[in-house]
Amino acid sequence: MRDLVSEAIPRMASPIHSMGIEEGSWEELVKPSTVGGGMADVAMPCHSLAPIMKKSPSEIADNIASAVSDSLEGIATVSSLNGFVNLLATDTWLSSKVEALIRDPRMGISLEDSRTIAVDYSAPNVAKEMHVGHLRSTVIGDAIVRMLEFKGHRVIKENHVGDWGTPFGMLIEHLLDLGESEVAGEKGISDFDQFYKQARHKFDEDQDFAERSRSRVVKLQSEDNETLRLWQILVDISTRYFNEVYSMLGVLLTDDDLMGESAYRHILPNVVARLSECGMLENSDGAEVVFLGGKWVNREGDPFPVMIRKADGGYNYSTSDLACIIDRVERLGCDDLLYVVGTPQKQHFEMVFEVASNAGFIDQSNRAIHVNFGSVLDSDGQMLKSRKGQNVKLVDLLREAIVRADSSISEKNPELTGSEREEVAKMIGIGAVKYSDLSSDRTKDYVFDWDRMLSFEGNTAPYLQYSHARICSIFSRSGVSRNSLTDSRIILATPEERALARELLGFSQAVDYSIEGLYPHRLCTHLHSVSSSFASFYEVCHVLDGDDAVKSSRLALCDMTARSLSLGLGLLGIETPERM
Ligand code: ARG
Repeated sequence: MRDLVSEAIPRMASPIHSMGIEEGSWEELVKPSTVGGGMADVAMPCHSLAPIMKKSPSEIADNIASAVSDSLEGIATVSSLNGFVNLLATDTWLSSKVEALIRDPRMGISLEDSRTIAVDYSAPNVAKEMHVGHLRSTVIGDAIVRMLEFKGHRVIKENHVGDWGTPFGMLIEHLLDLGESEVAGEKGISDFDQFYKQARHKFDEDQDFAERSRSRVVKLQSEDNETLRLWQILVDISTRYFNEVYSMLGVLLTDDDLMGESAYRHILPNVVARLSECGMLENSDGAEVVFLGGKWVNREGDPFPVMIRKADGGYNYSTSDLACIIDRVERLGCDDLLYVVGTPQKQHFEMVFEVASNAGFIDQSNRAIHVNFGSVLDSDGQMLKSRKGQNVKLVDLLREAIVRADSSISEKNPELTGSEREEVAKMIGIGAVKYSDLSSDRTKDYVFDWDRMLSFEGNTAPYLQYSHARICSIFSRSGVSRNSLTDSRIILATPEERALARELLGFSQAVDYSIEGLYPHRLCTHLHSVSSSFASFYEVCHVLDGDDAVKSSRLALCDMTARSLSLGLGLLGIETPERM
């Protein structure tokens, strides 16, 4: 309803100014209404005008309502209640706006001034199992990338995998102990958690192994060829596994987006040099650190540093992220840097951004945002684990989603068979996992619940996908092609048609609102309202029965509903089958 706001304000201006209300003092008050019930699409609370006008808010609202009513004729009907001026769009206005959407493949979503935006997401660790946190990062990051690209931005996907650092000494030695050909072969590493744990165990228990591991780290850091070759074996096995997960998930990430910690190792000395040049680097017990001061104190009240280079010469996670910022801003020309990473790393990013800004790696024109998210919990409120109490293996989880979806469609539509059924089961199973994650506020912990996410009712992917498939089936029964509706007139004869029209008009606003805060759940909430309004509409309005004009109007509403769902879910990385 922001269109109604922007069309109403200029028409309200002259009558409002004649009442002695100054230009610039009231426009901001006119906003899309937050109260449902079909009373107002746009509301203007007059309470803040009371002290200036020296009248009660309800008197002011009454006066404004009668003053602007004529100039809004045809657009909105005006009323007032309890100090609010209420505008309700007229059917004519609504129809004309909705008619414009029939011909718009973007469903009203405009392009923004393009910025170059790095989105850092997924970022699992080499030789470790991808955990559900990486799943969240992958799914949320992918949705954000799709939305930003659709708005016209240049998006650079960055998969900052953990592929460098001291643990690789012991991992490489363990690889050698197991036998290189064994590990590098077809089978690869079937259980990364086990692999990592064994290496760790030997490191802690076996002095000789620990010694070998330490000298392996030195060799790795000095870029010894043989060591790099062994390291690459581990990287390749892991990358194969990540790609298996990405392809099951249907996310946009490819090998071209891999930009792991190792890719920045040559910039690390440069980070140190630049921090030292601007006088930020201090020596603390042999380590090189930055003290930011201010709120960064530990429990004892002592200043708490950002570790740049440890006393043993090794660099830190923060150093790598600083190098990353330099690279993204200076080499890639990024305006904005987004990091889709769990909430536990909040302090890390705050400190890194502060160092980067103090050192001039980023300035006012850049936005660096930690797009944080909560943990994935099981139904008992515990961190999600597999039955054996280990980290859930992501491919197993995704396979289970598809199997469960398959059994639910076999109940719902036994006619679906063969490869079509396989495809549909995949779209529903994977869609369900993604949507249940995306539809909850990312900053909160979210509960992983198979029954809820696969349900055909409620705010779930299967429910939205089902509404979409249902509309496709209406069209196949109607004998009318969806492309033939471009000149349809929209007739809003029932409250259900009006309500659906309003939801369809709100789509682009929901997408913008979702991007504005980088909150995919806002779009989900809207898609669910579209679907619910469609269900009420479909119950009351017989789409294929009426005369030609009514039929064409209702079919156009169906078409736009289906398009909102497929475009909206598409922006979230979720597919919409035509039959299910
Ligand atoms: N690999 C890290 C982890 O698993 C996440 C990296 C996030 N990105 C970054 N630029 N720090 O926790």
